[in-house]
Amino acid sequence: MPKGRIFSGMRPTGRLHLGNYLGALENWVQLQDEYECYYGIVDLHALTTDYEDTSRIRENVRQLAIDFLSAGLDPEKSVILVQSHVKEHAELHLLLSMITPLGWLERVPTYKEQLRQLEGRDLTNYGFLGYPVLQAADISLYKADTVPVGEDQLPHLELCREIVRRFNHLYGEVLLEPQAKLNKVQLLPGVDGRKMSKSYGNEIPLGAEPEEVRARILSMITDPQRQRRNDPGRPEVCVAYTYHGIFNEPETQEISTECRRAGIGCVDCKKRLAERVIEATQLVREKRRQLEAHPELVDEILFEGARKARKVAQETLEEVREAMKIS
Ligand code: TRP
Ligand code: SF4
Repeated sequence: MPKGRIFSGMRPTGRLHLGNYLGALENWVQLQDEYECYYGIVDLHALTTDYEDTSRIRENVRQLAIDFLSAGLDPEKSVILVQSHVKEHAELHLLLSMITPLGWLERVPTYKEQLRQLEGRDLTNYGFLGYPVLQAADISLYKADTVPVGEDQLPHLELCREIVRRFNHLYGEVLLEPQAKLNKVQLLPGVDGRKMSKSYGNEIPLGAEPEEVRARILSMITDPQRQRRNDPGRPEVCVAYTYHGIFNEPETQEISTECRRAGIGCVDCKKRLAERVIEATQLVREKRRQLEAHPELVDEILFEGARKARKVAQETLEEVREAMKIS
């Protein structure tokens, strides 16, 4: 059995946090042995919303590459590429845009939702409406059959399938209809109990230094009714306890019992947690330090990734041009 092929991408918007790791990246790492994987740092997608101030995009690409590599994406197993390094993404996007009805794009739920959410920014531009077409190009360029994504991306995957069907109907069977593969998600709240998100400022960066991990965890919301050390606590409403369940499984039961009978204080409880989180992220931190110290290594990996990606991308585009009779 030949391996299936994966494409997935992330926009470079700054450093990843533990929630991104447990929600997506960890899945990507695990899929590397089972599939032939292409993982993209999709900087052109970042431009669809952040076109005004592009001063940080290059650094964000580098940071995301470091996050990918330090979390365990292995350039010996997977192709790690920057979207803008492989010009074929842009060319296929243009060709697919010719056959994509406006109505399909206007109907994508994430489109209206994002317009509302990013109110204040002018998003009445052509590139933003075409975001899912570019995503369809990303996937189709490598003829990926499997796309690991979060639930929020399902409408984009459906649109990709529709565009592929339309292409194949018009020009012959060239492109492949991909399947979404939902990420296994371990839901990790932010330190304030809301969804972990950079825009809330409640995140713990992946590969954060131990002092930062300790500080973030000490600031975590606990049982609000537990005002004094002698008050019994309710672990089920405590963010730190949720974290114990993920990072300190063996001691979770004990923490719960001690919390309920006021046998442990919140500060001590969080200190114990912080050490477990620091242990769990030790390797990521080491790898990050190493890559930070050798930026040329990162450049080389991205250069190689683009080279490998281009080989496949060029073959697909030749078939596409041939089918459309524009070669
Ligand atoms: N739209 C995706 C997101 O916001 C990122 C993305 C771009 C992507 N191209 C892709 C995901 C191709 C999967 C496949 O998360
Ligand atoms: Fe939360 Fe631990 Fe405090 Fe209990 S003791 S409320 S689990 S931080």
